Amino acid sequence: MAVKIIGTGSYVPEKILSNADLEKIVDTTDEWITTRTGIRERHIADDDTATSDLAARAAIRAMENASVTPEQIDLIIVATATADTIFPNTACRVQNKIGASNAACFDVSAACTGLIYAMEIANGMLNASPRKYRYALVIGSDKLSSITDWTDRSTCVLFGDGAGVLVLKNDPESGADSNFVVESEIGANGAYMELLKMPAGGSAMPASHETVDQRLHTLKMAGKEVFKLAVGGMVDACKHILAASGVTPDQLAWVIPHQANQRIISAVAQRLDASPERVFSNIARYGNTSSASIALCLDELNSAGKLHKGDLVLLTAFGGGLTWGAMLIRW
Ligand code: UT7
Repeated sequence: MAVKIIGTGSYVPEKILSNADLEKIVDTTDEWITTRTGIRERHIADDDTATSDLAARAAIRAMENASVTPEQIDLIIVATATADTIFPNTACRVQNKIGASNAACFDVSAACTGLIYAMEIANGMLNASPRKYRYALVIGSDKLSSITDWTDRSTCVLFGDGAGVLVLKNDPESGADSNFVVESEIGANGAYMELLKMPAGGSAMPASHETVDQRLHTLKMAGKEVFKLAVGGMVDACKHILAASGVTPDQLAWVIPHQANQRIISAVAQRLDASPERVFSNIARYGNTSSASIALCLDELNSAGKLHKGDLVLLTAFGGGLTWGAMLIRW
């Protein structure tokens, strides 16, 4: 029995916000954003588009790519930091929108590491015995523009909206040695919870006139501190799983780090000794799409025919919590 990725899909809203557009909103320059982050533009959803709408559109494309019907899906996991509502969960909304009436549905909250957490959970559930789940949609979807403080130049230039979906299938015909997860590690350190957060809107600080006036329903980040911890956290997790699997960097077809900052991506690649042309980056076009970022990369590579059966791909991410993870997958 082995779990495999049998399809991918993604969706980003049509509207593009360029660095030049941001120059008109806050005191910034295209030059600063490009050199400090690598981002040139990002996609921004309309007011009437929610995280579940992005996810549903990407899920329809992924199911087409995998040649599965909505009714075949047993499990929908949505990784997101921008759920449509605290409850019901976003996965239930996606289920309703795509007609996957047989699926169990829940969300995973691990910020930018959410997709790797969700893949880890889905892999465990699909591989569990007795086998209850055959097909799963693992979704990373975020509408970060909905929690962006458009007066804060240190954060508003970074984020974009989007969704990416992986279709997983438990194939009883395949041997366990062909399971798509070769090795993985997920971790967290809640002592750093203040570094990256949205302060209000939960039970700790419910919405009030004051929380709205003080912009506490928007993302706050201590960028410099997060930067350092992100590089160290992703590199350590990657080194652990490479050592555990006996795979060396030259055997990797692709390294896909979470797309938070081109400087972070390059620093991770350098410390892993990965050859630069094998380190995938599309941050220039999408910015940081949080849970969606790695899935957008995988779908872009898959659609371009740049992933081949048996390819080893190293994924790694870091985000609020703080959380981190790395996963070595076999395509
Ligand atoms: O996805 C979850 C994880 N998130 C991340 O990994 C993000 C990690 N952090 C980062 O990517 C970077 O820290 C930032 C891109 C957020 C900031 O880059 P930095 O090189 O760390 O800049 P900084 O915060 O040290 O700021 C340097 C200067 C400051 O001015 P002074 O104090 O030197 O005069 C900032 O006020 O750049 C200024 N600055 C800007 N200037 C123009 C900050 N944001 C901007 C801006 N435009 N948008």
